[in-house]
Amino acid sequence: MGVLASGRGTNLQSIIDAVESGFLKERIVAVVSDIAAAFALERAKKHGIEAIFIDPKKYPSRAEFDSALLKILKDKSVDLVCLAGFMRVLGAEFVREFKGRIINIHPALLPAFPGLHAQKKALEHGVKFSGCTVHFVDEGVDTGPIIIQAVVPVLDGDSEGTLADRILRLEHKVYPLAIKYIAEAKLRLEGRKVYFSDAAGIEASTSAINPMGA
Ligand code: GRF
Repeated sequence: MGVLASGRGTNLQSIIDAVESGFLKERIVAVVSDIAAAFALERAKKHGIEAIFIDPKKYPSRAEFDSALLKILKDKSVDLVCLAGFMRVLGAEFVREFKGRIINIHPALLPAFPGLHAQKKALEHGVKFSGCTVHFVDEGVDTGPIIIQAVVPVLDGDSEGTLADRILRLEHKVYPLAIKYIAEAKLRLEGRKVYFSDAAGIEASTSAINPMGA
């Protein structure tokens, strides 16, 4: 796996922990960030994972940035690209190269509230439930085929922070789970639909509130 992250990297940490505990059999071969000071890079180093900063300022266009990133991942024979709070939109060519092999986690029940500030938008809209979505990445922003969703209630007293925390606790459970299903080839992508080959996967992908005991 190659993990792309721009920020603090708590989702990255959940993947590292899942690898170190043996829940995932795959390895993270590199963590790549477009932000030099991203704490995600520190987390990688601490766990002996190669941490790479790729400076967007060095690349005049998005296409050039994307192809530099692509080269890094290909050189390392990355099979699965996991976006974990990566704040740049990847271009169509990059996405094509890794079609069906790039995933992202988003802190809302897509297709509701794509893009930035998903938790704030959910609160402002007044939804009673929100959650998180792991999805394949396509050319759009948060539009790709949905793999797993998990639901949390939105409570009357919630602030953006309390809702984000409740969702984040669930993100840390469902992201490694989605990776496991992909790694074990227990799901198949047909058009924009994802089908699971076992009952556990079906249950996980359609989980109810706090499905994994969060
Ligand atoms: C998470 O909320 C994730 O859903 C979104 O970006 C945030 C990243 O947080 N895509 P972290 O850096 O993994 O802590």
